Amino acid sequence: MINVTIDNKQIQVPEGTTILKAARMAGIHIPTLCYFELAGMKFENKPGGCRVCVVEVTKDFNGRPRRNLAPACATDCVEGMEVLTHSARVINARRTVVELILSDHPTDCLTCPKSGNCELQSLAQYLGIRDIPFKGEQSHYRQDMSPSIVRDMDKCVMCRRCENMCNNVQTVGALSAINRGFSAVVAPAFEQDLVDSPCVMCGQCVQVCPVGALSEVDDTRNVMAAINNPKKVVVVNTAPATRVALGEEFGMPAGTIVT
Ligand code: SF4
Ligand code: SF4
Ligand code: FES
Repeated sequence: MINVTIDNKQIQVPEGTTILKAARMAGIHIPTLCYFELAGMKFENKPGGCRVCVVEVTKDFNGRPRRNLAPACATDCVEGMEVLTHSARVINARRTVVELILSDHPTDCLTCPKSGNCELQSLAQYLGIRDIPFKGEQSHYRQDMSPSIVRDMDKCVMCRRCENMCNNVQTVGALSAINRGFSAVVAPAFEQDLVDSPCVMCGQCVQVCPVGALSEVDDTRNVMAAINNPKKVVVVNTAPATRVALGEEFGMPAGTIVT
């Protein structure tokens, strides 16, 4: 075990524990965006790319402060480390990071399928962002829609959760990051449409996407029209996966059979 001090709180953590996990053990909230963990499945996405989770290391392994802010999700604790998670420097950096992300992000929150359940929206709210001071180039990528998934890469924040999920959990390998700068995007090989790729439409990439870049095709209106059409007999077929996944939306424990 090693001793660390986070926001003046002394705790002991196992060696190899990141600052983010140590802070969580101490009940201290550090905001994140690219980081994602499914503890039960030993799935962890920590590319250290977004920098939303930065913290100030006021005492490092050498007894001195670290010059640069450190990403809490990708920095391991060391013996005697002292960390501030909400200093003025940290809060300013987090705000700037999110403002920069928003400067290259569509602002159609009202009609976005992820509105109300979007991690970027929640972050902007949490950090009290009321305007976007940076104006500049925006990335534009063609929309793509398979029978079940809509890809709107203009909203992608390059967290790479979908890529990690598709390749390492589902082991399908339909998605990977390509190109650089404003052209960077997570896409099927050779930028094929998803429907022409090895995608099996499991939907797990949609589940982990923190923003509206990946969403399910919404057939609610078609279903309602069919139900209200007196000339149609509507038959409901519930897939086994839905039986055990739907309950989570209503706050039931994962795996509860609801149909
Ligand atoms: S829906 Fe397709 S792209 Fe998404 S995780 Fe499943 S196989 Fe991969
Ligand atoms: S599509 Fe979503 S999950 Fe994939 S990298 Fe972009 S923001 Fe992340
Ligand atoms: S959450 Fe740590 S770098 Fe993105």
